[in-house]
Amino acid sequence: MNGETVAFAQMKDATQADYDLLSSKFQPYREATVERVLETLQRQATERESGHQIHRLDHALQCATRARADGADLDWIAAALLHDIGDGLAPMNHDRFAAEILRPFLREEVTWVVAHHGAFQLTYSGEFTDRDPNTREQFSDSPYYQSCIDFCERWDQSSFDPRYANDPLDSFRVEIDTIFARMPFDPGHLRAGEVLGLPSAAAQ
Ligand SMILES: [Fe+2]
Ligand SMILES: [Fe+2]
Repeated sequence: MNGETVAFAQMKDATQADYDLLSSKFQPYREATVERVLETLQRQATERESGHQIHRLDHALQCATRARADGADLDWIAAALLHDIGDGLAPMNHDRFAAEILRPFLREEVTWVVAHHGAFQLTYSGEFTDRDPNTREQFSDSPYYQSCIDFCERWDQSSFDPRYANDPLDSFRVEIDTIFARMPFDPGHLRAGEVLGLPSAAAQ
């Protein structure tokens, strides 16, 4: 093991000095979240077993490029890029998994859309997969309902096109750095209850 470590083997034996040491190591680890997120996305380029014409990284990039082209704000672009990052570790609830990564840093509206996009995508796939295409209706009272419909229609369901020229992963670095550098759970950027919706679609 590298570096200084605590002495305790059980938490109940820890001291203040131990926790001071752990705290000093946590901050740089937290700051490296961006690197781990980008590594995970990059790894999705090696996953071709889904059967789609493009791999998962290109789906994410295509989705984020469409959001960027529409003039979407940072939160939407980050959501578009990371909305399926849970595919590998949480294939049965990948939307909630991704939302928890983003929740401390994004507007509540955007996090909600990421958390629920799986149900809303059934609008397109449900009739072919023995799922209810109207699953999203149970969320119709949410202020974020229409935003999720729009996210899926304009950026998610449309982003499986092998001919689409998406922007490269590096080009999203500034957006992702900015998001993860925000103060976690700061009400100023969570903007609870606020509905901004998606920007108007860019001219095709
Ligand atoms: Fe998804
Ligand atoms: Fe997706």
